[in-house]
Amino acid sequence: MIQREIAGTGISDRPVSDQTEQQPNFGRQAPAVPSRFDLGTPINQRSYLCGGEKQWDGALQEVTSPVLHNADGTRRVMGAYPVLKAEQALEALDAAKKAYDDGLGPWPSMSPEGRIACMRQFAARMLEKRDQVVTLLVLEIAKTVPDAEKEFDRTIELIENTVEAYEKLVSGDREKSFEGVAAQLARSPYGVVLNMGPFNYPLNETLQTLVPALLMGNTSIVKPPRIGVLLFEPLMEAFKESFPSGVVNFIYGDGREIITPLMQSGEVDFLSFIGSTPVAKAILGQHPSEVALPRYLGLGSVDPAIILPHADQRAAVEEGVRGALTFNGQRCTALKRFFVPSVSGAEFAQALGEKASALRRGMPWDPGVQLTPLAEEDKGAKMRELIEDAVAHGARIMNPDGGREIDGVFVPAVLFPVTPEMRIYREEQFGPVVPVIPYDDLSEVIAALKAAPGRHQASVFGAEGADLETAVGAVSRLVHRVNVNTQCQRGPDALPFTGTGEAGIGTISISDALLMFSTPRLVVRKST
Ligand code: G3H
Repeated sequence: MIQREIAGTGISDRPVSDQTEQQPNFGRQAPAVPSRFDLGTPINQRSYLCGGEKQWDGALQEVTSPVLHNADGTRRVMGAYPVLKAEQALEALDAAKKAYDDGLGPWPSMSPEGRIACMRQFAARMLEKRDQVVTLLVLEIAKTVPDAEKEFDRTIELIENTVEAYEKLVSGDREKSFEGVAAQLARSPYGVVLNMGPFNYPLNETLQTLVPALLMGNTSIVKPPRIGVLLFEPLMEAFKESFPSGVVNFIYGDGREIITPLMQSGEVDFLSFIGSTPVAKAILGQHPSEVALPRYLGLGSVDPAIILPHADQRAAVEEGVRGALTFNGQRCTALKRFFVPSVSGAEFAQALGEKASALRRGMPWDPGVQLTPLAEEDKGAKMRELIEDAVAHGARIMNPDGGREIDGVFVPAVLFPVTPEMRIYREEQFGPVVPVIPYDDLSEVIAALKAAPGRHQASVFGAEGADLETAVGAVSRLVHRVNVNTQCQRGPDALPFTGTGEAGIGTISISDALLMFSTPRLVVRKST
């Protein structure tokens, strides 16, 4: 393999596979694990919630940790969960339907105060499990300790804030008189909600939709993501003891085996799914009334950073690298494309590369760590494929170590110039690859945004003034939130969060989610 160096930069354009071969993995020198995270006995989950606690004596799915290793460098088994079958999934559906009972069941007919008491009890019981849940988040998805703690605490706060918003909602004016009619207004649940969260926020985004759904009187079946599963085990008691039987059911296993019969039954009344667009399409297509099925979808998104000609480049690099690479770029709101004026593109990309390579790499418990091992075993290979494709089409890796795995951590690769022929221009990477796309006129960026299948937000970096206002105005017609000189993010949770294009449907915020999981119900009489 001929190695070329890009003049004066020390930057290599060798294929990453070639570079990777020369890198040792930490198999031979696995880092020491602090005792809190050195899970002694694996968690072998044999029970699950389905109209009460059930025992499973069938097959289990092994869970290995991306951050605990055996002496030979292989991932250590940290536990296992049940691989349920269609029969158990349908039992869960039956339990949820009984608890709902066409709106007459114990849960939907419980008073708002009763449901609030259950939810508050759950939050208190959940809080008792903070350490365990945080540890499992760290070990299973390699989220840094501060970020795992934040995910937990944000969720507790979200529960309380959702309860308060619900109290306000139900205490509102419920009778209104109009011309000739008096209307009694209320909101009704839909029925059985199938809730599927993503691996990158397995706790927070599952509960962000589950909590409002339950408060509004729906019952639920939760299918945890493919990874990020074991953290629900310590919460099972809290779910079981806080809610009446059948209100919250959990199913585990292969989605094709257990989700298909649920959807095909036509008895799921609301689908709440956060994950990839192709999986959402496959699941929806199984429902006999797909077109009418109420849904919340949070799907793939390629949120752009648009750097304007007079932006403070240093500040944009600083903020942009965080926006692109927090949790290794595995966020739906991560900055996944950088549009940079052609004249300064290479310089910007190089500065971004330097920052990306300087981020602190290590294990999630290391103080100040910013990049950790990738949770999915095949993720590094997928990232390398994207990088190699870009290099084959003329992009350069702007940071020499970009795309290598060093001590078990994938070093983010900053690619420049990225052009439409490259896969990274079109595909969502959801990981540590940072494409920088040169542009000459803002209209090119707007056209590229329009052509992208889905996005939630955009970040626009520029100096205050007319140019910035023009850009914000143009971009705001294509995304639901424009962040000026700051990265994209879902929070604060009181703000609405939604997608445009194929990035999803439905809006979550503390108050919007309550409305989304319920539908108006009216009784109208002629005024006397
Ligand atoms: O993965 C997608 C999340 O909704 C992003 O949430 O902006 O709070 O990190 P975040």
